[in-house]
Amino acid sequence: MKMQLVSQPLSSLATELLAIAVVDDQTSKEKDARPQLMPLCTDAAVAAAAASVLASGEFKASANETLLLHAPAGLAATRLLLVGLGKRTRVTPHSVRLAVGTAVRFCKPRTLRHLAFVLPEGIDSLDSAATARAAAEGALLADFDPDTYRSDRKDQSLATCALVAAEPAAAQSGFDEGIAFAEAQNFARIQVNEPPNVLTPTMLGQRAAEMAQAAGLKWDVYSSEKLHELKMGAFWSVAKGSEEPPALIVLTYEPAGYNAATYDGPVIGLVGKGITFDTGGISIKPADGMEKMKYDMAGAAAMLGAMHVIARIKPKVKVICVVCSAENMPDGKAYKPGDIATSMPDGDKPGKSIEIINTDAEGRLVLADGLTYARQLGCTHLIDAATLTGACVVALGMVNAGAFSNDDPTYARFHAAAEATGEKFWRLPLGDEYSDLIRSDIADIKNTGGRWGGAITAAEFLKHFVADTPWIHLDIAGMAWIEDSRPSIAKGPSGVAVRTIAEWVRSFEP
Ligand code: BES
Ligand code: MN
Ligand code: ZN
Repeated sequence: MKMQLVSQPLSSLATELLAIAVVDDQTSKEKDARPQLMPLCTDAAVAAAAASVLASGEFKASANETLLLHAPAGLAATRLLLVGLGKRTRVTPHSVRLAVGTAVRFCKPRTLRHLAFVLPEGIDSLDSAATARAAAEGALLADFDPDTYRSDRKDQSLATCALVAAEPAAAQSGFDEGIAFAEAQNFARIQVNEPPNVLTPTMLGQRAAEMAQAAGLKWDVYSSEKLHELKMGAFWSVAKGSEEPPALIVLTYEPAGYNAATYDGPVIGLVGKGITFDTGGISIKPADGMEKMKYDMAGAAAMLGAMHVIARIKPKVKVICVVCSAENMPDGKAYKPGDIATSMPDGDKPGKSIEIINTDAEGRLVLADGLTYARQLGCTHLIDAATLTGACVVALGMVNAGAFSNDDPTYARFHAAAEATGEKFWRLPLGDEYSDLIRSDIADIKNTGGRWGGAITAAEFLKHFVADTPWIHLDIAGMAWIEDSRPSIAKGPSGVAVRTIAEWVRSFEP
């Protein structure tokens, strides 16, 4: 789908579908006050074409509601689509992201190939650049469908999506950024969507290397030998149960003019869980729904996606991405409940001994060594993303991802970044009482903390490996896969966290 930013009188705009946003401008507080519908464009021809249906009351302009008019009088477009934005007072750039997505997904099953969406005007909460960015993101995210392997796959992708701006100069920077952010998120979704026989750890390493090469990032992809060299005993316990070799992927972004000898800014570490299939190992999972465990590498995909956009927006801060990828399998060589694993040494401190209680708690083991390694590489701030616990899904449902942090100022930046991207994260607590639950009788810690507070005890486990480094942990188990399609996005891989992580990284620019 080709994105265009155009400026043109709407009546002469020839396209298959011209879409305009409509708000409910009703200001009266009275309970049964009628909606006051306002098409968000100043064009008289569009207003005239929509006038009668808007007066009919058939359309309420609630969020993502649509109404289609054929052969609208006075317009060159063959169809006019009204898309609801909801109440004026509640409109944000995210409302625009969803509305544009809804228009794109309206076109796809109807095999309409050319869409022009009029960027809303006249709403105080929408500045031109932020609106154009949200609109571009909404369009590209909506154009993605997960049916890659269907032999009857029709190419339902749109040919063009034009965003019509009153002042294109003011919208241009946002438009360009929106494309960069959404393409990175779609890159992550493509990886998550791949079946586990295709996307092995080795293949994830290859895809990461190709992306890094094309984007101008430095990269290294290592395997078992490097894990042994670094004494990554926790990561290796998981990896050794599979015929597929693990991959330790390291991507580095250096800002323009970077000089290792003089750089004294922050070094941001992105660490991702890349389990390309999670059977549970010897503590095997039930068969029902196990096919979904191909998405257990969504944390890794989020970090690779974030690097993809970072390479394009070029923030003035150094970033290192560490992905720990393996398959979690039951096998003659698989690790077992009762085993003791020893994590990577931390400088001159020896690694920690870990009693394995459940081999299905494998994500925290690979991340333990990934976090330690990221610090060894010089990271001053850390963020990790992982489909880590079912407990997080129980706690927050499929609405918010879980977030944890050992540092309030660092989390405040992340919170602000999420406000800008429209992604939802909810901070959950850490604390010594939770940490007590992963004490072991035989080793330094154990890899599960019992039934209650499972998302938190998993986060406490990770915290053992970040030392004093400011750190954020994202548990995206409930958010990485969309169970039911929505008006603005397909079901399947969501690419959650890509945009917010990249926005958070950018907040460290001096
Ligand atoms: N990959 C799973 C978590 C998961 C669950 C992701 C549902 C997506 C959807 C993780 O490795 C896991 O198995 N966690 C266990 C931990 C338990 C054994 C302490 C869980 O959540 O049950
Ligand atoms: Mn597991
Ligand atoms: Zn897992």
